[in-house]
Amino acid sequence: MSITYCHASKFGNGAAVAEHFTQAMAAKGITVDVSHVRDADPRHLPRADLYIFSSPGRMGRPIGAARRFLRKVQLPPGTPYALLTTASTPQPDKKTGEMPSEESMARWRRVRPIMTELLDAKGLRKVAEDTVQVTGLKGPLEAGWEEKVDAFADRVAPLTGLHRS
Ligand SMILES: Cc1cc2nc3c(=O)[nH]c(=O)nc-3n(C[C@H](O)[C@H](O)[C@H](O)COP(=O)(O)O)c2cc1C
Repeated sequence: MSITYCHASKFGNGAAVAEHFTQAMAAKGITVDVSHVRDADPRHLPRADLYIFSSPGRMGRPIGAARRFLRKVQLPPGTPYALLTTASTPQPDKKTGEMPSEESMARWRRVRPIMTELLDAKGLRKVAEDTVQVTGLKGPLEAGWEEKVDAFADRVAPLTGLHRS
């Protein structure tokens, strides 16, 4: 059983999540092949039982490298995938101390929906998703993030047996 995991970490938080996830899955006997999107070929991804995609947010969207990568992904329709993104909480304005409007907060959280749109358009099948928060714009990861990733690993481990091609 195997998982191919592609992330677009810029500041290292998403890479740390991928690394922790890999260790958690190894303990369950499941191999995770992790790569940064810049090092992976979206048209020839390694064969796997499940694909995981991860991106940091950028002004309400997945970071550009992740969007370009996801647009090019070629996998058979029905292939199961999961999303495990990193995100920050919108911060109050530095000068006024005011929180962003509801509208910009909602836009800030569009990262996973956009990733889902891109992949569902190819007929891929989302089986799980979650987000690990970072506490500042660039990190570090929220307290207790390892437990959150462990819980995600527990959820997706049984799903790796569902797909055979
Ligand atoms: C310019 C900028 C814009 C950002 N926009 C968003 C956003 O729209 N939504 C969000 O959740 N996080 C946003 N973030 C926070 C990133 O999600 C955070 O930097 C990232 O998750 C850290 O992961 P990495 O260390 O793997 O790059 C932004 C960060 C920067 C620097």
